[in-house]
Amino acid sequence: MKIFTSTAIAHPNIALIKYWGNKNQILRIPVNGSISFNLDRLFTKTQVSFDSELTADILFINGIETTGSGLSRVVSFLNIVREIAGKQIFAQVNSENNFPVGTGIASSASAFAALSLAASNAIGLNISEKELTCLARRGSGSASRSIPDGFVEWFPGETDSDSFAVSIAPSTYWDLVDLVAVVSHEHKKVGSTAGHELANTSPLQSARVEDANRRLDIVRKAIINRDFQAMAEMVELDSNMMHAVMMTSSPALMYWENTSISIMKNVQKWRASGIPVCYTMDAGPNVHVITTKEYSENINQRLASMSGIKQIFTAAVGGKTRLVEN
Ligand code: DP6
Repeated sequence: MKIFTSTAIAHPNIALIKYWGNKNQILRIPVNGSISFNLDRLFTKTQVSFDSELTADILFINGIETTGSGLSRVVSFLNIVREIAGKQIFAQVNSENNFPVGTGIASSASAFAALSLAASNAIGLNISEKELTCLARRGSGSASRSIPDGFVEWFPGETDSDSFAVSIAPSTYWDLVDLVAVVSHEHKKVGSTAGHELANTSPLQSARVEDANRRLDIVRKAIINRDFQAMAEMVELDSNMMHAVMMTSSPALMYWENTSISIMKNVQKWRASGIPVCYTMDAGPNVHVITTKEYSENINQRLASMSGIKQIFTAAVGGKTRLVEN
């Protein structure tokens, strides 16, 4: 009996410029580049054990055996890892999240980032960080951005090997904080993978994609210059543009709840009063409220006094995906 085990930890990330729509859905080659930062404190920890005695892959999420579409997605991903390694051996995967899944905090990002590193290491592949971002991308596009440290840009590219992510500034570079205002814990009805396939049904998608490089340039420069105001305007514009595409797809995807809108309006008022704060939303009703460490307690109190917010998670800028003791 041979068992090869590795364990990795990865953080989710919040996109400042969003990934929405693929040129190649199978390879997850996106129509536009994206920029994000990793969220410390929130994490997925995944142990992968390739075991010569197993006759199929098995998956446990938070201690519960998972079958169906969750397992299929992991099996498809492990097939890619086995093909690269040239080995036919099944695995037991144990994955734990310390945050709720399916509510707009991208659990697939940290899940596939941790799985990429743990699986590739356990099977004996020694691949570069760049190659690891490409591998993670095959599991979930946004997972590519959870591999490198801190602030990360994913270049869309055209092929499997040139659609990769790099760190554009380390986690210590700028003390931003993401306050995730949880509006609903319900599992979202249409997930990102199905959503990406609908992007082109919106007549607004081509305008969003055409203007993406301009928004990417402004946000990349704003991060390098630690210019909150410049970043804030583009981050909100980019989120609004993605949701405009979602709302005008067929069928239409409406992720906003009443409380989401109240939060966004308040954030704009707070910024107009001089506080560095902005909002962004992913494929769910929760609102990511981004501010600096200096203002995070102040914003936390303002959010806590609003009705309709069920929980607030606070995360600073997080590090890269890394191996830990089994
Ligand atoms: C709205 O990476 O979750 O969060 O590649 O199908 O797994 P798949 O999609 P996913 O899409 C993320 C969409 C988003 C925006 C973003 O994170 O850039």
